Amino acid sequence: MRGIVLAGGAGTRLRPVTGITSKQLLPVYNKPMVYYPLSVLMHAGIQDILIISSPKYIGAFQELLGDGHRIGLDLHYAVQQHPDGLADALRLGRDFIGGEQIALILGDNIFYGHQLPTLLQRERESLSGCTLFGYPVADPERYGIAELDKDGKIVSIKEKPEKPTSNLAVTGLYFYDNDAISMADELTPSPRGELEITDLNLNYVESCRARLVNLGRGSAWFDTGTHDSLLEAATFVQIIEKRQGIRIACIEEIAYRMGFIDAVQLSAIGDSLGPTSDYGQYILDLAAA
Ligand code: TTP
Repeated sequence: MRGIVLAGGAGTRLRPVTGITSKQLLPVYNKPMVYYPLSVLMHAGIQDILIISSPKYIGAFQELLGDGHRIGLDLHYAVQQHPDGLADALRLGRDFIGGEQIALILGDNIFYGHQLPTLLQRERESLSGCTLFGYPVADPERYGIAELDKDGKIVSIKEKPEKPTSNLAVTGLYFYDNDAISMADELTPSPRGELEITDLNLNYVESCRARLVNLGRGSAWFDTGTHDSLLEAATFVQIIEKRQGIRIACIEEIAYRMGFIDAVQLSAIGDSLGPTSDYGQYILDLAAA
């Protein structure tokens, strides 16, 4: 399976903050936002990852993450000239994906949960068609909402329904088989001019090949597209990290725990971050443990 982080877009809701930088490079507490979606793909065991961003900011992602070898990843980069929609990621990623399955994650989505790595790896192994990840929300009229039949199969996905029949929001993490590439080719832009990921997902729903995994109560999901949600996500990360003395989405730690790098490589990364960074010190302590 190959991973894609879609980290372009216009970030209009975060203006003026996004006037001089990409939304997905903004800090969420103590690390750049893109670390969070990247960490989700790493937890799924994915090491080949394509990062897509706008022409203006792709260089900044490359500067931040490089070729990924430092943390045992093989990172590739692609430019999305215009924010033409989420499903455009499949078209832009065609060569990179080849004949593989795909895990697509939005660059501003944050997931956290004790069981998440196990769940992701299980879903990856059993993927057939497409797997979406649902999260129960209190305000379903603000999200893309999946309606399930009594057996748990998706029967519809409605964007911002006025009268929601379920509270399961479709989050920004999607697992697809390779058919997604040809399906994305067939899509036409919606009235708002975008290649809609919901249209792609509905193709799978119509052929009864869409599964929804409810992330449930024991996990947290944030999309960080507004000033308030960005602050709330940062506060959440701060509280968990301070209380438990652990780090969320520390990609170097995950690389080490997943066996992508060893303690010597981890220690070298800690050294490079320097003694004044508590993030670096955390890595050094981990390497020495
Ligand atoms: P959105 O939050 O829908 O859009 P946005 O990031 O441009 O923000 P705003 O609505 O404030 O203008 O995008 C969700 C994620 O997908 C986000 O990480 C940006 C990314 N994205 C792209 O990379 N390309 C696109 O064409 C679109 C629509 C979004």
